[in-house]
Amino acid sequence: MKSYTVEPRFYTACLRCIRPQVMSREPVIRGASALELIDWAEQEFARAGILCAQGTASDRDEAAAIVYHVLRLDHNDPLALATHADPQAEGVCRDLVRRRIAERIPSAYLLGEAWFAGLPFTVDQRVLLPRSPFAELVLERFEPWFSAGNVSRILEIGTGSGCIAVALALAFPGAELIATDISADALDVARMNAARHGVLDRITLHRGDLYEGIDGRFDLIVSNPPYVPEGDLVGMPREFAWEPRLALVAGADGLDFVRQIVLGARPRLAQGGWLAIEVGGGARALEAAFPGVPFLWPELADGADGIALVAVDDLPRHNAPAGRPESG
Ligand SMILES: C[S@@+](CC[C@H](N)C(=O)[O-])C[C@H]1O[C@@H](n2cnc3c(N)ncnc32)[C@H](O)[C@@H]1O
Repeated sequence: MKSYTVEPRFYTACLRCIRPQVMSREPVIRGASALELIDWAEQEFARAGILCAQGTASDRDEAAAIVYHVLRLDHNDPLALATHADPQAEGVCRDLVRRRIAERIPSAYLLGEAWFAGLPFTVDQRVLLPRSPFAELVLERFEPWFSAGNVSRILEIGTGSGCIAVALALAFPGAELIATDISADALDVARMNAARHGVLDRITLHRGDLYEGIDGRFDLIVSNPPYVPEGDLVGMPREFAWEPRLALVAGADGLDFVRQIVLGARPRLAQGGWLAIEVGGGARALEAAFPGVPFLWPELADGADGIALVAVDDLPRHNAPAGRPESG
């Protein structure tokens, strides 16, 4: 059990004060440092074998997310790790770590906050936790595939917390965005996040089933739809059970939504437009479903993959059945 560092603190009356100067040796109890708490939490997580795949990449990241959040530390402050918690904050950190382990609840839900593309997002169990490799492509404005100057209308399908839509709005300040989701609950969270980042006036939040109710053409259609094959959910770590099933599961092969999005994209893209769609581990299944479509698979810096890019002219024609090669 941790023993607190006790150090003397001196209260000195203001020099201009007419009362006599008072010197007190009242002790102030100082908790563990951020570094000590992170080390401890990391060890606890490693011992318990938690899953870190919903926005953090390691036990240490998960530990740091909790400690930095509770102690309100600045991620860019090199001295942050030396900051000492007060005993109450230390207790909060330790309780969160214990809950993280006992309930297998992802820390972003415990904290109500997740980071995406360098920005904080408000999250709760109504939305999938932001973790898409789209962050990198959006921050690079999808270069070299197209130039930001040509992007005036963007559609995001399945916006969830709104993390991708908000990052897109900031990366393409001249563009108008429409972000859809079938879940009204998710759209409430997306609205909060768009407001939090000052882009609510640039994003139209629309409730609908994929393209339902969407008019006009777009320079870019982006989607991270549900793509987990139904059968895979059973064996998945407990952490995933905290996320909405609606955000994860997509039929027997995981392509239920992907297929419809690919098939519906061509008539909704402007000349020179692109579809960018995340399929996770479903690259081979996507290629097999659309033989002849030249999907591009950008290599992302953090080793992630699973995002396909395809230009409008290479997309299948509207309502062509998946599985049949299409051209022209
Ligand atoms: C994998 S999550 C992606 C959330 C967010 N874009 C992100 O990257 O963190 C998929 C989202 O698609 C939504 N969704 C599921 N079925 C849908 C449908 N038929 N039409 C529109 N959105 C749908 C879910 O509610 C969920 O928010």
